[in-house]
Amino acid sequence: MMPKLFEPYRLGGLELPNRIVVAPMCQYSSEPNGRAGDWHLIHWGQYLIAGAGLMMIEATAVSPEGRITPGCLGLYDDETEAALRDTLGRARRFADCPVGIQLGHAGRKGSMTPPWGVRAAIAPDQGGWGVIGPSDLPFNDTSAVPRAMSSDDIEQIIGRFSEAAKRALRCGVDLIEVHCAHGYLLSSFLSPLANRRSDAYGGSLENRMRLPLRVFEAVRAVTPTGAAVGVRLNGSDWVDGGITQAEAEEFARRLARLGCDFIDVSSGGNAPASYSTGPGYQLAMAAGIRNASTLPTMAVGMIKSPTHAEAILLSGQADLVLLARGFLNDPRWVWHAAEALGVDQEVVAPYRLGGRIGLRMA
Ligand SMILES: Cc1cc2nc3c(=O)[nH]c(=O)nc-3n(C[C@H](O)[C@H](O)[C@H](O)COP(=O)(O)O)c2cc1C
Repeated sequence: MMPKLFEPYRLGGLELPNRIVVAPMCQYSSEPNGRAGDWHLIHWGQYLIAGAGLMMIEATAVSPEGRITPGCLGLYDDETEAALRDTLGRARRFADCPVGIQLGHAGRKGSMTPPWGVRAAIAPDQGGWGVIGPSDLPFNDTSAVPRAMSSDDIEQIIGRFSEAAKRALRCGVDLIEVHCAHGYLLSSFLSPLANRRSDAYGGSLENRMRLPLRVFEAVRAVTPTGAAVGVRLNGSDWVDGGITQAEAEEFARRLARLGCDFIDVSSGGNAPASYSTGPGYQLAMAAGIRNASTLPTMAVGMIKSPTHAEAILLSGQADLVLLARGFLNDPRWVWHAAEALGVDQEVVAPYRLGGRIGLRMA
C-alpha cells in the first residue's frame, strides 16, 4: 500500500504529487530592490528537482517597506515581477513541481540587518525605511518604533496584497500563502501583544481579525479556482496575553467561510519568548485548528524523520507536512523518505542513470 506521505493530494484546484512541502525560507539574498536573482535560481532549482509535492517561495514582500531586510525578495513593481518570472521560469525548466509563494509584509519587524550578523534596525538615512504596525510599539529594543497605521495605510496594504497576488499568478505561481504568522504585519494585527488599537482594527478578536480577513478576501478574489490560496497563522505567540488557540481556531473557521483552501500552522514571533521545541512541537495546534475549521492543514516544526511524517498524516493531525531545516540538511530528503517507506520514487531524468548503474540513493 502506498504510504500516505506519497499519495497525491488535491489542494484547492491543484493536484500535488505527494504531501511533502518545502517550507518557505527567507534567503535575504535578493538582487538590489527585492529582485529575484542567481541565488534563487540555485536555491529554488535544488528544491524543484527534489521530488516534493510543493515548493513554497520565501516570504515575499508586497511593498518595498514590507521587506524584513534590504535583501528580502519583493513582488511590488514591474521590475520585481519580471525578475521573479524570469528566474522562476529558468528554475522550473527541468522540473514540474508545483510552486507556492508566501506573500507578506514585515510590518514593525522590517528595515533590519540580515540575521547572520548583529541584528539591528537600519535607519532610513542608512538604506532602511520607516516601519509601520498596528500600534506604535516596537517588537524589541533593537527594532524600530513603528508608525501606527492610518485607515489610508490599511486600504493601501490590502491593495498591495491583491496586486502582488496578481503578479505572482502572472509569474506562473500555483498557490498563494498569505503570511499571518511570526509577528509580521498581519500577525501583529491578530495579536493583542502588538495591537493596541481602539478603532475597528483593534481590541476584540473580531476587530483584530478584520485586516487579515480583508487581505485574504482581496487575494482570494483575484485568484482563480485552478490555483490555491491559504494562510500561515500562529497557533500561539508563546507569551501570556498573546493569541490563544481558541482565537486561532476561530480565525481559521472564518477563513474557511471565505474560501480558504488550506491552513499552515506555525507559532511565535509577536514578542520575544522562550519555549521548548522538539519533533512536531506545533502539531497539537495544527490538529486543533484542522478539527475546528475542517480545512486541509499543513503541519510544520522539527518534522525530521519520514516515519514521523507518515505517522502525522495517518493520525489525522494534518494533511501535509512542511520541512524547512530538514530540507536544508538533506535536499534529497524525499528520495530518502521514499527509500525508508518502500516507495519507488520518480527521479528527474538526468539523475536516473544513477539508479540504473546500481547507485543506492541513500
Ligand atoms: C532559513 C529559514 C528561513 C525561514 N524563512 C521563513 C519564511 O520566509 N516564512 C515563514 O513563514 N517561515 C520561515 N521560516 C520558518 C520555516 O518555514 C518553518 O516554519 C520553521 O523552520 C520550522 O520548521 P523546521 O523545523 O522544519 O525548520 C524559515 C526557517 C528557516 C530555517
